[in-house]
Amino acid sequence: MPIKMYLSEDEVPRKWYNLGADLPTPMLPYLGPDGNPVTPEMMMPIFPMNLIEQEMTQEREVEIPQEVLEILYKWRPSPLHRAVALEKALGTPAKIFYKNESVSPAGSHKPNTAVAQAYYNKISGIEKLTTETGAGQWGSALSFACAQLGLECKVYMVRISFDQKPFRKVMMQTWGGQCIASPSPDTVTGRRMLEMDPDTPGSLGIAISEAVEEAVSDPTGKTKYALGSVLNHVMLHQTIIGLETKQQLKKFGISKPDVVIGCAGGGSNFAGLSFPFVRDKINGDDIEIIPVEPASCPTMTGGTFTYDIGDMSGMTPLMAMHTLGHDFIPPPIHAGGLRYHGMSPLVSQAVISGLLSPRAIHQLECYKAAMTFARTEGIIVAPETSHAVASTIQEALKAKEEGKEKVIVFSLSGHGLMDLKGYQAYMAGDLFDYALPPEQIQENLAKIKDFPPVPKR
Ligand SMILES: Cc1ncc(COP(=O)(O)O)c(C=O)c1O
Repeated sequence: MPIKMYLSEDEVPRKWYNLGADLPTPMLPYLGPDGNPVTPEMMMPIFPMNLIEQEMTQEREVEIPQEVLEILYKWRPSPLHRAVALEKALGTPAKIFYKNESVSPAGSHKPNTAVAQAYYNKISGIEKLTTETGAGQWGSALSFACAQLGLECKVYMVRISFDQKPFRKVMMQTWGGQCIASPSPDTVTGRRMLEMDPDTPGSLGIAISEAVEEAVSDPTGKTKYALGSVLNHVMLHQTIIGLETKQQLKKFGISKPDVVIGCAGGGSNFAGLSFPFVRDKINGDDIEIIPVEPASCPTMTGGTFTYDIGDMSGMTPLMAMHTLGHDFIPPPIHAGGLRYHGMSPLVSQAVISGLLSPRAIHQLECYKAAMTFARTEGIIVAPETSHAVASTIQEALKAKEEGKEKVIVFSLSGHGLMDLKGYQAYMAGDLFDYALPPEQIQENLAKIKDFPPVPKR
């Protein structure tokens, strides 16, 4: 059996897949501050209409524009590898595969949607995009995509990651993007946060507020905001990952996986790999599908499914999702891209429908897994991705105990070559696990108890 499988450019899917069309329980609408459903017009100050239509579409498939495909071909199709060396080291009968999204120019899955979003903004006459970034992967992906399509780009980077990962900023600047630490003095939200706590590590919620604020306050209307995860259209653009994987597994002679795994911050790489398999599960296939989150930011395993805003100051609509409460500031773990209080509404609804089995893992176990992976397969994965690796190792060892030859597929969402400080701290013994007391979560959730409840269905 070969150890990696490519596709030709002709075999790259021509359509994205929308899980929303197949979920057994329909998605709940986004709500405005008055509790009424948000109309497309209300989202226009933030996003162009073509992306709003994708956000709300009920179509099962959406055509990928040729111009987007031609940029994606720079690294797509991405390879599907068989992790033979890891299997051997674990002594497992399981067959482990990983879809390698680290081969993109920015080093992660994020350019899959960055290119699409930059394209749809460009054809709507938009000249500048603002965004937030956690680990810096999304900010670099959007800077890369804006360079491809000739747009300006400004990135608010969560302060803790800004300090931990200075070279991400250089990457963004190399592609022509502007990158500043959030909270920043450039926005009302940022100034307010800095006044409250000048040493705050920041959070994705604050950075989103700042980026949206800048977009909606541009009097020319030529600036819009782009989000790297959470929203339906982002999940849609990422499904190219799973659609390619299905074809590659077939070429390996495998009709279906037993276990599909991805780390989940806002949910996009997990959704991208898994949603085509969730569809198969809805249609009767027996597949365990696992989104993995940090134990210190346990949105799905410790939070609650309710209406909450996606940012700190209510710039986004209310979304029915798993949340820890929008002003939750997660502990400063190294997986910056997983430090988000909410979860994609599509992923959340799939959890509620019993289609997914979320897990939470502490960072020390994740780094240990990442070290094993680096010394067997060779790739130094991003700290976010290490959560998927740790869960994969758990599942492979379980298969060993059970003596089962399971097929496990996981999403290698990005490399960690810009994240070596985390590895350095791990090897020096300077990293700790942060257990979050349930009372703290409850305290935080109590602050959103007056938001509209999700209807019983
Ligand atoms: C490499 C990598 N993986 C995963 C994530 C988590 O995001 P998402 O859940 O949207 O895939 C990030 C976010 O920054 C990332 O950089």
